[in-house]
Amino acid sequence: MGTPESEERSVAEKQFTQYGNKRLEKFSRSIELQRRASQEIPESTSSNYRGSGSYAPYPMVFMESGSGAELTDVDGNNYIDFHAGVSAIINGHSPSRQIEAVKQQIDNGPYFATSYEKEHEAAHLLNEMVPSSDLAKFISTGTEAIMSAIRLARAYTGKEKVLKFEGMYHGHTDYALVNVHPGAEDLGTRRNPTKIPETTGIPQETMETVESAPWNDIDLLEEKLEREGDDIAAVMTEAVMSNSGLLWPENGYLDELRRLTNEHDVLFILDEVVTGFRMGLQGAQGYFDIDPDLTVFGKAMANGYPCAALCGREEVMRFLESGSDKSTFMGTFSGNPLVVAAAHANLELLHEVGEQGYKKLYDRGERLTAGLKEILADAGHDVFVPKFAGFFAVHFLDGGGDPAAWREYRDIGPNTDPDAYSRFAAAMMGEGIFLPPKTGRINLMHAHTDEHIDEALEAAKVAADHV
Ligand SMILES: Cc1ncc(COP(=O)(O)O)c(C=O)c1O
Repeated sequence: MGTPESEERSVAEKQFTQYGNKRLEKFSRSIELQRRASQEIPESTSSNYRGSGSYAPYPMVFMESGSGAELTDVDGNNYIDFHAGVSAIINGHSPSRQIEAVKQQIDNGPYFATSYEKEHEAAHLLNEMVPSSDLAKFISTGTEAIMSAIRLARAYTGKEKVLKFEGMYHGHTDYALVNVHPGAEDLGTRRNPTKIPETTGIPQETMETVESAPWNDIDLLEEKLEREGDDIAAVMTEAVMSNSGLLWPENGYLDELRRLTNEHDVLFILDEVVTGFRMGLQGAQGYFDIDPDLTVFGKAMANGYPCAALCGREEVMRFLESGSDKSTFMGTFSGNPLVVAAAHANLELLHEVGEQGYKKLYDRGERLTAGLKEILADAGHDVFVPKFAGFFAVHFLDGGGDPAAWREYRDIGPNTDPDAYSRFAAAMMGEGIFLPPKTGRINLMHAHTDEHIDEALEAAKVAADHV
């Protein structure tokens, strides 16, 4: 009989062979590290999203270093990175300007419990780049920024509820983890959806402060705001549904959402944690020409460092100043000098990349998506690749529905085969291309070159046969 250790190892090895490559020994250190990590950390890493559950039945690869658009794992294997730090990397891994800025701050000291000049400079840059932002505050994560935006909206409007849309992920607070990825069949009627917590441990009282609706249906939103607008402090949305299959807004939907929220004295919170500085220099709000009251940035704003921002209209943001009728905004590490230095350097870099740089990124994205569609179709796979927006997804179709008609979260689950995508991603990993392990955003960054796109397409020709 084998020891538990050898049994675990053999399970991992057996799973690893499903990567679609025959070079198991190339990944021996990753396999060993996953075995050891699982004894110290639930899911073998701190965020479950990047944990063993997301990769199962395939094991995880342990990355060690990154430069530009490339990564190297602990076994010395190289990858072209299209996972891009779950969309947090836009200027490539470790651009020298950013390293220098952070090093300088390390030399000066990481934290003084006072304001400092760079904080003001970074806010100035952000406010200049984003038209809807008069004032900004920094915080560590998108989750915290959304949490603060919700509290601010309640304080400003004097109302309690927040309306979010089915299939949208806005971080991991209790308020945001409602109707994120439920089974479409459990959601009840579209007019009166069931509220389903994403996890156990969320109090019923909290759920009652969150309203949910299908996205992309302006009539339903209008009805809801007519009926409940007096209790709703904010409508919170992404401009593109980036965490559930990458759905696009119907023509005019976001403009109508703006009109209706204004009409009902409800704040419009735009979550640009993913779209910000990825869809373009002004994020999704520039792309779609919308004017939210509050915006949350994160991820690509600091190119891989834990810095997010809550910004918006002056009258609302001034509610974050001290006063008994105001809303608070705190955090020992909110706006920490190290990460603000990283964000500042990154925003300066993006400013230099300019519209021309984003145009090149879009051109590469268009070429990659067109090539993948063709390769997968040639291999006999029926796929849907939604329009490129700085990122894209690949859906393997299963269910017969026409993806051109998909409008909302409920349309996706019954019509796709997520396991087929996971097999494709695993096979791409075996070929040196790092994609999200589950259907999700495949990202371009400014550091990708035409050669990286060529290599990814060559890899896809092999991986397409392992789906
Ligand atoms: C749209 C969106 N909003 C908010 C968040 C939360 O950001 P963070 O992971 O930095 O807390 C995420 C994270 O993936 C996100 O995708």
